[in-house]
Formats: sequence, C-alpha cells, structure tokens
Amino acid sequence: DAADKGLYRHYMLKEIYEQPDVIARVLEGRIHQGHVLEQVFGSGASELFDQVKMVQIVACGTSYNAGVVARYWIEKLVGIPCMVEVASEFRYRKTVCMPGTLFITISQSGETADTLSALREAKEQSYLGFLSICNVAGSSLVRESDLAIMTNAGPEIGVASTKAFTSQLVVLMLTTLVLARRYGFDDEQEIVAQLEQLIGLTEQVLALDPQIQKMAEHFVDKHHALFLGRGTIYPVAVEGALKLKEISYIHAEAYPAGELKHGPLALVDEDMPVVAIAPNNSLLEKLQANLEEVRARGGKLFLFADSKAQVKPGNDLELITLPDVPTVMAPIIYSIPLQLLAYYVACLKGTDVDQPRNLAKSVTVE
Ligand code: G6P
Repeated sequence: DAADKGLYRHYMLKEIYEQPDVIARVLEGRIHQGHVLEQVFGSGASELFDQVKMVQIVACGTSYNAGVVARYWIEKLVGIPCMVEVASEFRYRKTVCMPGTLFITISQSGETADTLSALREAKEQSYLGFLSICNVAGSSLVRESDLAIMTNAGPEIGVASTKAFTSQLVVLMLTTLVLARRYGFDDEQEIVAQLEQLIGLTEQVLALDPQIQKMAEHFVDKHHALFLGRGTIYPVAVEGALKLKEISYIHAEAYPAGELKHGPLALVDEDMPVVAIAPNNSLLEKLQANLEEVRARGGKLFLFADSKAQVKPGNDLELITLPDVPTVMAPIIYSIPLQLLAYYVACLKGTDVDQPRNLAKSVTVE
C-alpha cells in the first residue's frame, strides 16, 4: 500500500528503497527480444517518431533535471539536437519551433501549472507532436498530449522526488532508443541489457546505506555545500543539490566541474563541503584535476566514484565506492546515493523530511 510507510520512518526512505522494483515495473511490457516496443508510447507513435529531427523538452524541478540528462543521451545516441528548458521560462518567451521537432513534457504529477501551460502554448506552434512522460495516467498533461508513456513509479508521497526521477530517466532512455534506431544506432540490445542490469545494481547501491548515513554526519553543521559533476553527471549533481536544499535546508549549489575556476572555487574552504560525483567515464581524469584544486584550498571532499577512481580516502577526502556501471547508466545509479545523503542529513537535522517547509508536492497554480 503506497499510503503506508511500512517499516520505514519516512515515505521518502520507503520510496528510495522501492527503486529496484520501480525500475523493473518501468521495463515490464516495454521490451521484447532486446528491443523497445514502440506501441507503448501510444497509437501512431511509430509514424510520428519516423519524422523526428529535433527534440524540445520542457519540465519543472526534478523532472527538468531528468530532461537535462536526456539531452546528453539524445544528442549522443540519436545524434539529433535536443533542447531542454524549464517550463516557466519556455511559456513566457518567444520560442522558435524548427520543423520536425518533437515536444516532450516530463512530469510526475501531470498537473504542474507551468508545464501544462507550456504544452498549451506549444500547441499553438507547429511542433511535430507532443509526448508526455508522466507518472499519473489520466492527468491533464497526458490527456492533452498526442502520445504518452507512464513512468509506473506508483504514488510518490514524499515531496522530494526520488523514485519518480529514476523512473523518468529509464523512460527517457527508452525514448532515446526508439529515436536512435531511426538514425542507424545499432547497440540497442546492449543498452536494453544494461537497463535490465539496473535492477541489481540499484540494490547494490542501496546496500551502501550505512556508509552514506555516516557521511551525512559531516553535513549537519554546514550551511553550504557544492556539488560537482561533468557530462551526464552534471544534472545528477544538480538533482543531488536540489534534494539536499529541499529537505535539509542547507544551501547547495551544483556546478559543472569545469566551471570551478570560474567562480565557485573562491568559496571553497573548510566550511564548504564539496560533493563530487565521478563515475569512471571519459571525464574522470579531468574531474580529478578539479578535485585536487579543492583539496589544495582546504576543502573537504565527498567523492562518489567507482573502483577505478584511484584516490585514497583521508582527512580531506571521504569516499563512497559504487559498483562499476556502464557509462550510459551512471546517471541513474549515481542519483541514488545522493538521495540517501540528503535524506540522512535531513534526519540528523530533524526537519520534516516528507513535508519540507514552504514546498508542495504538486505546484498546480503559478
Ligand atoms: C514540485 C515538487 C518537485 C517536482 C516539481 C515538478 O516542485 O516538489 O518534486 O519535481 O514540482 O513536478 P512534476 O509533477 O511536474 O514533476
């Protein structure tokens, strides 16, 4: 029962722990013989996808962060342009619609006022079609879109979104794959196999819970925190910072690691914890140089990496070692320890984790 916390102290923790099951549910009935089924996007999906030359994603909050990950995926695996914008900006500015652009909204609730208004505005323009990625069947966004695919995360009660985010990422990867096959991408079966491996990997990451709980103690008396990531992990850093500020009320900012020298490095000292998310991808080496810059300024580093990171924990570095994951799947896996970190910091601070002050689960008015 979704409305029952069961053995968990908060809905948020329960929802974090549901993620292996949620990922299994997202994939259920969507895959056949290593390929993504197109009919799950709705009738007429294949004909519409055949014409897609560009993608415009619009969303708010956590759903927007999922959209930013998708931009990296779509441009890399499909090879077509993808733009992402927060709905409250998109709806109020003059935008240019290029021919062949698929308009995608992402929303847990399907009722966010700005996202819905952005969709309605866009429908006045010449977009190719409208796809909604949503957790609530029958919501306004789903009803008003041509195509829709449900994220099947089940009801999310905690205001800070967790399982809805990871389920959105999985659906965005399914969407990337159906578009990519039209542009000569032939590794679909490999990526689908990696998606299926996510369930087990998620369980392994959840088993790091005690280590993350211990790490959280370092944040309790802090007023600020900096999150760094590169590539697809940059939006994961943004989402990690959002989780921390939403429920622990610690001011957290995320930066693409390469921007460190262009401002945030000035803030780094012993009172500014720096959280670096560094799966072993092609950018790891560059990120390591950034990390040295932080250490050299007395900053304490909290590193989430895999066994290839080759760094030694010490007084200035706390390390959480994640299992090795396929590069493409890293944003999904690395989101989870950051959810747990925010959760345990908030618990230690004694905030109202499921109902943070001033925030609403669904922002249905402007
Ligand atoms: C609120 C919620 C967030 C959510 C955002 C967008 O701010 O607190 O968790 O990400 O709205 O909501 P949506 O339902 O459109 O995903």
